[in-house]
Amino acid sequence: MGREFVTVDLESRRPQCWKGDLVLVGVTEGDGPQPALDRLGRGVAAEVARAMDAGWFRGKPREKLMLVLPPKKGRGFKRLGLVGLGKAGSLAAEGWRELGGSLLSWCREQHAGRVLCLLARDRCGDWKRLPILESLAEGLLLADYRFDRFRRDPDREGKGGGDGKKGGKKGGKKAKGSRVVLRFELAVRDRERQAAARSLARVREIVAGVTLARDLGNLPGNRLVPETLAARGRKLAREYPIRTRVWGPEKLAKKGMNGLLAVGQGSANPPRLVILEYRQGGKKPPLVVIGKAITFDSGGISLKPGAGMEEMKFDMCGGAAVLGLMRAVAGLGLPINLVGLVPAAENLPSGTAQRPGDIIRLGKGIDVEVINTDAEGRLVLADALHYAESFKPSAIIDLATLTGACVIALGNHASGLMGNDARLLRRLRRAGEATGERLWELPMFAEYQEQLKSPVADLRNVGGRSAGAITAACFLSRFVSPKRPWAHLDIAGTAWDLSGRRPHVPKGAVGIGVRLLCHLVAGRGR
Ligand code: BES
Ligand code: MN
Ligand code: ZN
Repeated sequence: MGREFVTVDLESRRPQCWKGDLVLVGVTEGDGPQPALDRLGRGVAAEVARAMDAGWFRGKPREKLMLVLPPKKGRGFKRLGLVGLGKAGSLAAEGWRELGGSLLSWCREQHAGRVLCLLARDRCGDWKRLPILESLAEGLLLADYRFDRFRRDPDREGKGGGDGKKGGKKGGKKAKGSRVVLRFELAVRDRERQAAARSLARVREIVAGVTLARDLGNLPGNRLVPETLAARGRKLAREYPIRTRVWGPEKLAKKGMNGLLAVGQGSANPPRLVILEYRQGGKKPPLVVIGKAITFDSGGISLKPGAGMEEMKFDMCGGAAVLGLMRAVAGLGLPINLVGLVPAAENLPSGTAQRPGDIIRLGKGIDVEVINTDAEGRLVLADALHYAESFKPSAIIDLATLTGACVIALGNHASGLMGNDARLLRRLRRAGEATGERLWELPMFAEYQEQLKSPVADLRNVGGRSAGAITAACFLSRFVSPKRPWAHLDIAGTAWDLSGRRPHVPKGAVGIGVRLLCHLVAGRGR
């Protein structure tokens, strides 16, 4: 898992001396010839002019054209790829990420092994070039992921020519040896090389965090149980300055974490609370990030319908994001204090499972009537939220594939955002814009709380059919102290994507939340 098949490097030598398969040049729509072309030697510019005069290529967004150059002595490459950038300056960060992703598959289709990328060289002021480079590299690296460890015969994509090397070992091993390393070299000027190298190193750490989250997210319920997440947490503690503690059923019982215990009691795979502490920020109060980790959500006794139930292996993507975030933050060595909490359980029906109508006592001594065992996420989160208070955090953020209602409300293009602190919500929304992991706020008017009243307990765990995403957040809010800045991200519609529509989002777990929260805690563009 997580093997790399593309390498991204920087190249600051003169492009006409470069040797490889393919040079990519960005072309904006409606502008004259590209200054970068001059650096590729005469002849090249003429070929491009010919293609554009003939109307074969206009520079529209997503447009691409491969030109085979006539042989010329001394030129180290034979092909030129024209890449449409749309109107000058029209691509935003997400556009560059998508472009990076689409270039990866294009170059593979074209059997290119070594590619020089001149895209970001032209027509943008210097202040913009590094972010462009960063987004482009991020798109390339994010696109270079597939979950193929259980496929003996993966689609043979990118057999590649050029000087690409064989990836991995050959033989009967799963999904190895069928892909080729594609080497991408991003052209930079000498004087920006250092800063670009730092950007690239940062992108690699962040993508490594996303990859960890994707790998965990994609593992099915029989391959990833609560203890698997705990083991991964312990491994992080061996690799980074992270302290990991794992609580099993006994400790959970002592701590009164009866929500996590109740949800997990129907499964032979006992629940865990994984506590990860990264403290490199001195005496500052930490941020606590909580991720729902139901390793499989069958609904329990309130069993879900069969169609599509397999997708509920993704119901631990919140927890996966927390582990991925810890990995990224520690890899970057950020000077912050961060605590990750991963309440992990498997929600199955059995003779020991909790029943509809059960009343359980959660943190703060709140008694909850479990109307529907399929509303399990809020039960495990309630325990974690309550426990989070003991860290006296600066803020608490939870991520959860919490409600189908959120998918109805927002579809797959934004995560639901709710909380009690306007400033925290604004910072999150901004991080969402910057990273392409967009958030959309839903209101938490006091009236919604009334839907959670129970005739026999303090609360019930469902609020009826209307405003399901909001009433779930209202439930969570009861376990947070009112003055503690808290935000809840409902990632039910964004945690996985089986469509393959976005080039930098391979089918399966998205790794949502890692880049978003990494941006937030790194304090970039506050
Ligand atoms: N994990 C599900 C929510 C979910 C559903 C996420 C579909 C992604 C896609 C959650 O545990 C759940 O089952 N929620 C119920 C709550 C209801 C019983 C109040 C739901 O949304 O139907
Ligand atoms: Mn459920
Ligand atoms: Zn669930």
